[in-house]
Amino acid sequence: MSDALNYLLKARPEAMSAYFSFLKKSETHLDIRTRDLISVITKVAVQTEGGFRQYLTRALRNGASPNEVLDALLMAFPVLGLAKIVWATEILLDMDIPEFRPDNLDAKPEWHDVAPVTEVPQREAAYFESDGRHLFTWRDGDEIAVYDSRCPHQVTDIPHLSLEGTTLTCPKHQWAFDIESGQCIAKGKRPLKSFDHKVVEGRLLAYW
Ligand code: FES
Repeated sequence: MSDALNYLLKARPEAMSAYFSFLKKSETHLDIRTRDLISVITKVAVQTEGGFRQYLTRALRNGASPNEVLDALLMAFPVLGLAKIVWATEILLDMDIPEFRPDNLDAKPEWHDVAPVTEVPQREAAYFESDGRHLFTWRDGDEIAVYDSRCPHQVTDIPHLSLEGTTLTCPKHQWAFDIESGQCIAKGKRPLKSFDHKVVEGRLLAYW
């Protein structure tokens, strides 16, 4: 929530609680994806970039596909107009979410080669690139965790340099993650996204 809303919540708790309760009740009959897509469109309509990035992340996390987001944007053309759709598309390009790249729009999940498993270090975080996506790994014996480098807050591609020991800190708003567990340990509340993985003929594969 923004600092402004936090302030209003403290300064006018009754009015603001009623407002939030209204928002919650107004979505009761919508399925989650429809609710999320409408939220994304409202952020485009008022052109709040942080809100757009955040609600887009939520929509994707809850199962909306990039094609559905693009359809929702285009369907809203009569109210948004081309300039706002271009504004949102420029932010999408800046976010560079792998699933939104034109070649990936219709891609089905599949196994991707990451690296020889011998190159995944023991009890040390490591960073890999695989088919246009960045990944972090943590390995303890035969147990391996494979994490998306994309921050669960607003999909920022967290760089390798953000690792300090076992703590990964997103440079954008400083959400911090424990790379051993993937859990968020500061600022935010959502864990890193982890991918299914397996080792085949000595190579680590991840599924997305
Ligand atoms: S994008 Fe906000 S903390 Fe990562």
